[in-house]
Amino acid sequence: MTVDDHAIETPPPAPAPAHGFGTLAVHAGSPHDPTTGAVIEAISLSTTFAQSAVGKPVGEYEYSRSSNPNRHNFETAVAALERAKYALAFSSGSATTAVVLQSLAAGSHVISVSDVYGGTHRYFTQVAKAHGVKVTFTPEIEVDISEHITPATKLVWIETPSNPTLRLVDIRAIATAAHQHGILVVVDNTFMSPYVQNPLDHGADIVVHSVTKYINGHSDVVMGVAAFNSDELKARLSFLQNAIGAVPSAFDSWLAHRGLKTLHLRARQATANATALATALEASPNVISVNYPGLDSHPHRAIARRQHRDGMGGGMLSFRIKGGHAAAERFCQLTKIFTLAESLGGVESLVEVPAAMTHAGIPKDQREAVGVFDDLVRVSCGVEEAEDLTRDALQALDQAVAEFTRNGSNGVTNGN
Ligand SMILES: Cc1ncc(COP(=O)(O)O)c(C=O)c1O
Repeated sequence: MTVDDHAIETPPPAPAPAHGFGTLAVHAGSPHDPTTGAVIEAISLSTTFAQSAVGKPVGEYEYSRSSNPNRHNFETAVAALERAKYALAFSSGSATTAVVLQSLAAGSHVISVSDVYGGTHRYFTQVAKAHGVKVTFTPEIEVDISEHITPATKLVWIETPSNPTLRLVDIRAIATAAHQHGILVVVDNTFMSPYVQNPLDHGADIVVHSVTKYINGHSDVVMGVAAFNSDELKARLSFLQNAIGAVPSAFDSWLAHRGLKTLHLRARQATANATALATALEASPNVISVNYPGLDSHPHRAIARRQHRDGMGGGMLSFRIKGGHAAAERFCQLTKIFTLAESLGGVESLVEVPAAMTHAGIPKDQREAVGVFDDLVRVSCGVEEAEDLTRDALQALDQAVAEFTRNGSNGVTNGN
């Protein structure tokens, strides 16, 4: 059985939860230990579980790849936060993507937004075709989705906001168009986290995350998760979760579950910090433009208001610095609180230059067509104090731009 053997029915939305997000984050999937009363779950390292008779496990677990207490509790918590019936955890965000793609039969066609995460692009272009799945990319999916749909189209892949330009996609509009043809819609919600955006509520069929980012939130676990409402998807994807075996360890599941318990606090602070920083950068004469969905100047601000909790912008932003690529690199060296590093969504603030780092593999003309210029800096705001972050960014900005625009050189000198 594959997902395309069946007409796609949109499952009913999950019932409204009895508790608010923060209460669910702390308590969902967190039972007290029935024997010791431990409030925090133990890390269950056992790979196998005793059976009282052949085929009769003592509890609900048999073998840890198939399921184990820590992974199960984490999955229960994510399902609650994504307002989904089910969640399945994987060893990375990339493994999650791979399993979703492998659930398609050979000959299937996928439509994807152009500016997906680089690793997703790599999988779509270099791996999916090996098992007969073809992917078409479009930069304007809301405009031309129907032109790309063929009888073989089984999946639409959206990343919103996009990385690193923070463009938004209207999930409801895409789901409406896709569902008319029985096509599933997947949303990579890594950048927003379940606190800011719940794609299933806007009509998506599957939401995926790199747990490595906001859900774990402490830059010490690589993991992924998919959440959905359909029983049929549960059967298919949990079969592949076990058959492929790209599963997280008990320890990583435990750590990610611990991180998730403070997601609401971290996401609020990261948004407050990013809002303050984006506002200060937008007002600076040393900045060409700022991409942040929490600003009224953002071209998709109306979508953010509809799709994000309280119209929040999240913790990610990017901006074009005056002085060219050299100034962008220099800026990242001059910050004292922000660390120059890839990744995002942790408690600590990070900066990077996508053209030379996360997006270096994309040819320059393709990069620039979607706004990833050499002078673009991407910022992941952590949970430090907004005032400190803003002061740090502005001092680095002023110094970097001064170095590279001196004598009208405007970025052509290499002052490093
Ligand atoms: C939006 C997005 N999706 C998926 C991934 C892949 O996740 P992982 O690194 O956990 O495999 C990333 C990683 O950076 C990402 O940013």
